[in-house]
Amino acid sequence: MIPLLVNKTHPLPENYLDGVELVETENCCGKKAFVEKETFAAYRALKDALEKEGVGIWFGSNFRTIKQQIEIMKVLAEKYGEEYARKTAAPPGTSEHHTGMALDLAPLVDGEWITENMALMRPVELWEKVHRRLPEFGFILRYPKGKEEITGYGYEPWHIRYVGKELAQKVYDSGLCLEEYLGEQ
Ligand code: DAL
Ligand code: ZN
Repeated sequence: MIPLLVNKTHPLPENYLDGVELVETENCCGKKAFVEKETFAAYRALKDALEKEGVGIWFGSNFRTIKQQIEIMKVLAEKYGEEYARKTAAPPGTSEHHTGMALDLAPLVDGEWITENMALMRPVELWEKVHRRLPEFGFILRYPKGKEEITGYGYEPWHIRYVGKELAQKVYDSGLCLEEYLGEQ
């Protein structure tokens, strides 16, 4: 079973994927991708709703193994330096991406899928439109602006986590990040 809170101080337990169904699909760039079944259905509904608003999204990152997380940390450190990598990639075993319930959205801008971190920070208005629709489909923005000290990561407008509609709406309305929200219960 997948725990609700996965972060640096709440690493995933062993066998957390027992009974979890991952579905196979493709990411925005045609690469084989896996996403947890309920998360994928919710994501597709979110994508369809956004399309009706004229916003194109797919995802560039989805379920990741420990090995893939190690590789991502390496790539980020080489490209942007160790400090940025630490602020951006979770230590292997503590990433929400291991659950299949987290997605890194890739917006479509001028006919191209944006997946590079710096470029992802630019379409501010597009992200506002996306973030507004998240709770309706059961997703939360996991690393919001201004919560860096609490989440342990810089602002990531692209990283969403499926938590179900009820909780997603409550977290959204509270204006808190998940750690704060759960701490207040
Ligand atoms: N970017 C998030 C923190 C991760 O690597 O899971
Ligand atoms: Zn992510």
